Amino acid sequence: MAESSSDLRRRRWWRSTTTRVLAGVASVAATATVLVAAPGADAAASTLGAAAAQTGRYFGTAIAGGRLSNSAYTTIAAREFNMVTAENEMKPDATEPNQNQFNFSAGDQIYNWAVSRGLKVRGHTLAWHAQQPGWMQNMGGSALRSAMINHIQKVMAHYQGKLAHWDVVNEAFNEDGSRRSSNLQGTGNDWIEVAFRTARAADPSTKLCYNDYNIDNWNYGKTQGVYRMVQDFKARGVPIDCVGLQAHFTGGSSVPSSFQQTISSFAALGVDVALTEVDVTNSNTGQYAALTQACMNVARCIGITVWGVRDSDSWRASENPLLFDGNGNKKAAYNSVLNALNAGGPTTTPTTPTGPTTPTTPTTPTTPGGGSCTATLSAGQSWGDRYNLNVSVSGSSSWTVTMNVPSPARISSTWNISASWPSSQVLVAKPNGSGNNWGVTVMANGNWNWPRVSCSSS
Ligand code: XIL
Repeated sequence: MAESSSDLRRRRWWRSTTTRVLAGVASVAATATVLVAAPGADAAASTLGAAAAQTGRYFGTAIAGGRLSNSAYTTIAAREFNMVTAENEMKPDATEPNQNQFNFSAGDQIYNWAVSRGLKVRGHTLAWHAQQPGWMQNMGGSALRSAMINHIQKVMAHYQGKLAHWDVVNEAFNEDGSRRSSNLQGTGNDWIEVAFRTARAADPSTKLCYNDYNIDNWNYGKTQGVYRMVQDFKARGVPIDCVGLQAHFTGGSSVPSSFQQTISSFAALGVDVALTEVDVTNSNTGQYAALTQACMNVARCIGITVWGVRDSDSWRASENPLLFDGNGNKKAAYNSVLNALNAGGPTTTPTTPTGPTTPTTPTTPTTPGGGSCTATLSAGQSWGDRYNLNVSVSGSSSWTVTMNVPSPARISSTWNISASWPSSQVLVAKPNGSGNNWGVTVMANGNWNWPRVSCSSS
């Protein structure tokens, strides 16, 4: 049978990746036992998340807290995706219903559901003209500026060290590229950079994104307006790490021919790009394939999130815009996306090849620390790009565990601890009332050596 061009591309990609992985192994073999399973030449992943992970990307979905009790929904979501965005539960009206009184129960429910299944979480969103709580809608001027800063600080402190990205500011531009008028804009044109600077100080471990819709066509005023802002931020050192293209190709808009140019132009500014809320009217298969391919073709396009699981879960359900039908069956668009992901493309981390390698055997799983306590690591679930570690502390109930992550690996989520981050490679964990058994998800970024831990008690 003739080999398709996508099979050929995949073979070539695997061959070069495998060579790079093995070369890397040779250089560290003297100091550690490293096991690498070379993938079969035709290994094609069978889920969206695993397929995206082959090139260091993620494939995510919006999750609605109210649907977590529906097992048909959660089965698909946990199987197919490796990133989650709370559809509404981390927005300002959900997290700060009364001024300075925070409620994280709905957001935490989604967060805990995701990390306990090894999925990462994007935070969405901190500063937005819509879905503000009533008290905020009626506010303006310096009072609103202070309230925005307080909101960012408190919400980010709650999720410190836990989220892969935060959409710091959402939808701040008009279609012509000027700033959207809103109560936030009314506090002064610098409100967006103040939001980003506040966010960086609140949690240096998470990537900070600007997120918007209708910034897909390179030759469009709004795209150019956002581009100029990001260019200006990079030039002046305002902290911004990523741009999210919502990519709602519903409600009459479709994938423009310049879509890949838009992605690569933002990426060339030195930011990551993500497609954050994808849906396409009637799941037009060609459009789904094209938008996936555009992301795969740009190394800094780090992942794709669809805005819901089944058509019936969509905020635009009448347009049948998602990858699963209302009965949970895979649609033709699903296959076109999976094939594009499996065909490969430039990895998002060119210097640290990723792919389905096997985690290394730990050299020192247990390191007793300064006080009379011991932290013991054990393997949890693992995936093509990351793995879970379970940590069990004995000898004290008042402990501090320090975990040093070998670069370029990073901890992407934690559970059952109060976490602080002296640096992006160092996690300091203390009890949060959930007992002595906790855990972390480690994004390997090519380095599968386990973190070192030490325990001290007070
Ligand atoms: C939507 C949700 O899907 C709906 O459930 C809600 O009623 C309104 O908001 N841009 C965004 C998302 O950034 O937060 C929006 O989500 C869709 C448009």
